[in-house]
Amino acid sequence: MTMTSSDTSKNNSEETGLRKGLTSYGDKGFSLFLRKAFIKGAGYTDTALDRPVIGIANTGSAYNPCHGNAPQLIEAVKRGVMLAGGLPMDFPTISIHESFSAPTSMYLRNLMSMDTEEMVRAQPMDAVVLIGGCDKTVPAQLMGAASAGIPAIQLITGSMLTGSHRGERVGACTDCRRYWGKFRAGEIDAEEAADVNNQLVASVGTCSVMGTASTMACIAEALGMTVPGGASPPAVTADRIRVAEETGARAVQMARDGLTIDKILTPAAFENAMRVLLSIGGSTNGIVHLAAIAGRVGLEIDMQALDRMGRETPVLLDLKPSGQHYMEDFHKAGGMATLFRALKPLLRLDALTVTGRTLGEEIELTGPGFAQDVVRPIDNPIYPQGGIAVLSGNLAPGCAIIKQSAADPKLMEHEGRAVVFDNAEDLVNRIDRDDLDVMADDVLVLKNIGPKGAPGMPEAGYIPIPLKLARAGVKDMVRISDGRMSGTAFGTIVLHVTPESAVGGPLAQVRSGDRIRLSVRNREISLLVSDEELARRMRENVVTEPTADRGYRKLFLQTVTQADKGVDFDFLRAAEITGKTPRS
Ligand code: FES
Repeated sequence: MTMTSSDTSKNNSEETGLRKGLTSYGDKGFSLFLRKAFIKGAGYTDTALDRPVIGIANTGSAYNPCHGNAPQLIEAVKRGVMLAGGLPMDFPTISIHESFSAPTSMYLRNLMSMDTEEMVRAQPMDAVVLIGGCDKTVPAQLMGAASAGIPAIQLITGSMLTGSHRGERVGACTDCRRYWGKFRAGEIDAEEAADVNNQLVASVGTCSVMGTASTMACIAEALGMTVPGGASPPAVTADRIRVAEETGARAVQMARDGLTIDKILTPAAFENAMRVLLSIGGSTNGIVHLAAIAGRVGLEIDMQALDRMGRETPVLLDLKPSGQHYMEDFHKAGGMATLFRALKPLLRLDALTVTGRTLGEEIELTGPGFAQDVVRPIDNPIYPQGGIAVLSGNLAPGCAIIKQSAADPKLMEHEGRAVVFDNAEDLVNRIDRDDLDVMADDVLVLKNIGPKGAPGMPEAGYIPIPLKLARAGVKDMVRISDGRMSGTAFGTIVLHVTPESAVGGPLAQVRSGDRIRLSVRNREISLLVSDEELARRMRENVVTEPTADRGYRKLFLQTVTQADKGVDFDFLRAAEITGKTPRS
């Protein structure tokens, strides 16, 4: 890279490579001179520095085994970048693992998105490869990249392999919950619990069922943000490494073509993502994350339109927790290409992808497919309607959702007596007490686990079955909260009640003994008290919103939005909402 006088006259939007985003010293020529001097300290030549620069967001961390293959992926991405004539530059960002994030990973997702956005902006790069996998990382990266606005491509770390426990195939984390449930019910002893603990996570990589990580991997490909076939290869396979190399090469071409992220994250892309979410029996968290990503590009998710879409979108993917297979089976069955082929009549084929071709063109390129039993044909689905239904009623005037494909059909039309827990601590203290007044047909209600309530909307919506009922063989009950639930969980569980109780939503006014009606058929969640009584309770029991004195928690509590807006910070959303998706 030879410096010229024009280096001082170009404006930022025209600049490329190392000239992008110069540090401000009041003299652009000097800024470039200094930058080059420092990078040459790492041994770079002018020839290398003249190439398009491809940033690689490295989320490898000893605390994140879901990203344990990050070093191999980075090596392969770099190979792809260099084969295509670019200069790879990896850089660290925050990494979030579900089990190593207190109070909950969702509390940190927006922080990671800010880190990603600002480091992509601050450092010179013509395109960025985002390496993510564990639940919150992919949405955080897509949110940040959407706001940064440069060409961006997602690289998924890939799923873990399944393990084997006493002859039974197991994988995180549906089987984690199942085995823990057995332990709580006294069906297995501590020794067996310790044995299975060794087998549930058989390799590095993300959870092997259709939890949030797998959901977001499929959504990223459906959005057009990965190379074709980028969602399904397990973390430790050659296919995953090949995807990484291809991703690096594609990033260089995107930089050359100026294929910025706004050209890909269109309403049609979000519609495809929602269609896929519904058809895979995906995690309910996918809706929250899609709302947040859409909000970054000025789009709002129309929840009623999403529900209508759900009624006409069958669940086709036979994966746990809704079905029986694991991610590695989905990959062997052809991955997303097989799903897209089955779903084709319902997809927006005109949506552009990172390849520069449309989704329809990509589907054509994958050929006719082959016989397999993981993705069902559209006329023989796992479940006739989309996995997720949107509910409303006086208990959730905004909305609430239920993952009907993971619920007990017998409980989806149910009226019962409320057994209320005021917060997560109250739940822990009382749920297993022998004197808890609870019966199998009651409705468990948990307050104050919404975006502000906990804070961070933890995955505590999967309220455990009270111990005395679990021991009596009760496997499922209607459960309601303003929190989230892991995509690996199952049960008749109403989530994301909006507005949440901590900001004074009607959920705050539910009392033990009230009656509650759930009707998934009518999309209804109702507290069976009169409007007058509810209004009286609201007057007499005014909710004080939580606050904090300082730091990230203060920022979080002051600016976090509700579930229907993606639990993003209000100041990170696009300044203007210009449209809704999906089409109504
Ligand atoms: Fe990382 Fe499940 S804990 S994907």
